[in-house]
Amino acid sequence: MKALVLAGGIGSRMRPITHTSAKQLIPVANKPVLFYGLEAIRDAGIREVGIIVGSTAPEIERAVGDGSQFGLKVTYLPQDAPRGLGHAVLIARDFLGDDDFVMYLGDNFVLGGINDAVERFRRERPHAQLMLTKVKDPHAFGIATMGPDGRVVDVEEKPRYPKSDLALVGVYVFSPVVHEAIAELKPSWRNELEITDAIQWLIDHDRRIESTIITGFWKDTGSLADMLEMNRFILESLDSEVSGEVSADTEITGRVVIGPGAVITGSRIIGPVVVGAGSIIRNSQLGPFTSIDCDCTVIDSEIEQSIVLRGAFIDGIGRIEWSMIGREARLTPGPRAPKTYRFVLGDHSEVRVGV
Ligand code: DAU
Repeated sequence: MKALVLAGGIGSRMRPITHTSAKQLIPVANKPVLFYGLEAIRDAGIREVGIIVGSTAPEIERAVGDGSQFGLKVTYLPQDAPRGLGHAVLIARDFLGDDDFVMYLGDNFVLGGINDAVERFRRERPHAQLMLTKVKDPHAFGIATMGPDGRVVDVEEKPRYPKSDLALVGVYVFSPVVHEAIAELKPSWRNELEITDAIQWLIDHDRRIESTIITGFWKDTGSLADMLEMNRFILESLDSEVSGEVSADTEITGRVVIGPGAVITGSRIIGPVVVGAGSIIRNSQLGPFTSIDCDCTVIDSEIEQSIVLRGAFIDGIGRIEWSMIGREARLTPGPRAPKTYRFVLGDHSEVRVGV
């Protein structure tokens, strides 16, 4: 069995971070979202992985390399534009050959990995196996409807009038029969080749589809709120490990990971919190549920429920919450009076200023 991981697309809901960076590489608890998926694939005993890459290909390739850091053998499959999940399977045809494969959306996180799904597929040998989960906002997902016998009878991509609240999780297991369906696909109203249309084709042609309803934590990290929620969730299961330097006048409560070379002085760290290697935290309060990546500086500030990316510099800002701060971003106070703000903000930035 092989795996096809989708790491193309444009990440429009994560702008401006994704103007300069792939959304699948945004770190959660200081580890890129994509890496959680690659580890889940490895843990399911799969070794050969094709990664669909788009305009952020160089960055993804730099981060993942040949896959050996995960115990995987990675082949990159360039996609000229995000033409749909079905299109990704189409261009992966030669790589996939006649093997069964897991298709894993690179921005998805599934608690507990994919071992159960893969084992069930191997045991029962359906043509396709889906993971489903109940969602509050069925308009935002592919939605499956079950028949009276508990089998999926209908799938629809982001329906205007959802027939159920069971969303397709971004992990699918397919037999090579799916390529027959992919070959028949026509672009949808949004001009994409939809994997849901391929699944519907399989249903209409009496192929066997199995599904598992999962109840554990799952996240499609499409938006800031999703990212922060996954960050909270992963940090909950953190094991404390302090490798950096923590001064005697720093107070630490709860579970905290402090990377090598980090230096924390005169601060309060309220776990769960992770501070990456080489970061400097001075006279500040961090946490709870906060991830500070490597080589950041935080001085005279408070940060709660937030993700701070590599190399950010935050000095004298007061209190920050529910935020994501991009790589090498600088946050410093402006002159006190008159009360004005000075901004250099990327396209699609969102700033909330207290009045
Ligand atoms: O997360 C689950 C949902 O994922 C499912 O419920 C939907 O049925 C499925 O269509 C998908 O919806 P999204 O709107 O979340 O898909 P998104 O455009 O975010 O793409 C998912 C991943 O695949 C993301 O990492 C980008 C990548 N991608 C996407 C497209 C359209 C590609 O690599 N190539 C593409 O052409």
